[in-house]
Amino acid sequence: MLINNEADIKSSEITSEQDYLNRRQFMKFSALATAGFVLKNNLLWAADDSEKYHRLNNVVTSRFSTSEEKNSWDDITTYNNFYEFGTAKDDPADNAHTLKPKPWKVEISGHCKKPGSYDVDDLIKQNQLEERIYRLRCVEAWSMVIPWVGIPLKSIIDRVEPTSKAKFIEMTTLYDPKQMPGQNSYVLQWPYVEGLRLDEASNPLTILAVGLYGRVLPNQNGAPIRLIVPWKYGFKSVKSIVSIKFVEKMPRNTWNIAAPHEYGFYANVNPGVDHPRWSQARERRLGEFFKRETLMFNGYGDQVAHMYKDLDLKKWF
Ligand code: MTE
Repeated sequence: MLINNEADIKSSEITSEQDYLNRRQFMKFSALATAGFVLKNNLLWAADDSEKYHRLNNVVTSRFSTSEEKNSWDDITTYNNFYEFGTAKDDPADNAHTLKPKPWKVEISGHCKKPGSYDVDDLIKQNQLEERIYRLRCVEAWSMVIPWVGIPLKSIIDRVEPTSKAKFIEMTTLYDPKQMPGQNSYVLQWPYVEGLRLDEASNPLTILAVGLYGRVLPNQNGAPIRLIVPWKYGFKSVKSIVSIKFVEKMPRNTWNIAAPHEYGFYANVNPGVDHPRWSQARERRLGEFFKRETLMFNGYGDQVAHMYKDLDLKKWF
């Protein structure tokens, strides 16, 4: 190393205090930027907006979770289907701020012994919350892996005691064009409605999700409470639910009303039954380049196939 004598250093080479401070600030900024980059790549929550959403307490992990790599908070909250806020994938994240998810009540009615209006905050307090990391396969042939936080639907069904007349449940999204401006257009029949057979609704995999990555649901994902049935195409998982009704007859569901030849009531993920306009054999996991094979019942056959052993799945698509 070459050491200069003090006398050898030209005055033009001596840094003024202001320049020194500016340089220090620049170096500090670069160090922070580098750290931010490292954080962003190692800890996905570092650069997203998840901190805005409050953390849910007492969440236990579930044996039903997949160990596959999860999609990021950003993937899950910016690539959505929620036609009440527009039909493009980024519309819900841009527009769903008009939804007021609190306070929120779910009306439980129809053939059950304890109908009533149930507050979502009470349901959260009174039930054990579970983290369920599930694959979600959309009918449009993309998929994600999502760490939902939810309540098994069966614990709510048991609490309200359905009678022997209850064969199906019908679940309905809020209808309020002020909060959900997409309902001013006729792209679908509003409110959005979905249904399940009672045994499907009571299956241990079926949950009502109230959170994501340990935090309350962002509006675009169906706040404050939405259905998740991981072996069925995503359109069955109705968002922002205000009504659960126990009924005798199979309810019509929104996408079936819109295009009956394309969307059935069951909508079980089935690589062997194509959508009339495209194949369902393969799917693209969001963030991946190559497509992967779609699994029967989205890979949940061990838990659900028994419910359909007497059903012709080509006829009942
Ligand atoms: N629920 C309502 N009310 N409106 C909708 O447009 N879209 C469905 C389902 N639930 C939809 C809905 C579809 S097609 C899919 S794939 C999933 O929500 C998407 O859920 P996500 O945006 O949380 O991934």
